[in-house]
Amino acid sequence: MGRRAWSLGCLIVVLGFGCASGDPRRGARVFQERGCPYCHTIGQGPKAGPDLRGVGRRYDATMLELWLTDPEIVYRQTGRRPRNPGFPPMPRISLTEQEIRDLVAFLRRQ
Ligand code: HEC
Repeated sequence: MGRRAWSLGCLIVVLGFGCASGDPRRGARVFQERGCPYCHTIGQGPKAGPDLRGVGRRYDATMLELWLTDPEIVYRQTGRRPRNPGFPPMPRISLTEQEIRDLVAFLRRQ
């Protein structure tokens, strides 16, 4: 993603829920520590959940935040569960607000 698009995304995040503290490098660590790789790869094909390569183009920051806050909200919004055909619904994972911000910053760059 270009630097400009990133800044714009960041601006939107600032308005939404405070950008300053979303750190993609921390997000990469949270991704490992919170067991996301148990179900997801980034660029190595699907596991129990979809490959997250390009997920930053499929969803904006708000949608990513929703996935990480509570997938049920995404299902309610889109009226589909699961949203991606061929996968089970995503379980709710208990994350802190900081972890969500960092994960969103990380996923936006994938
Ligand atoms: C137990 C397995 C499991 C774990 C652990 C898990 N997910 Fe998921 N995730 C899924 C499944 C299954 C889907 C697809 C759900 C659907 O399509 O409705 C999904 C969907 C997603 C999506 C939307 C992807 C898309 O292309 O639509 C994102 C983003 C995501 N997960 C991020 C994460 C992150 C970040 C973590 C770690 C905090 C995580 N997931 C942990 C199973 C998991």
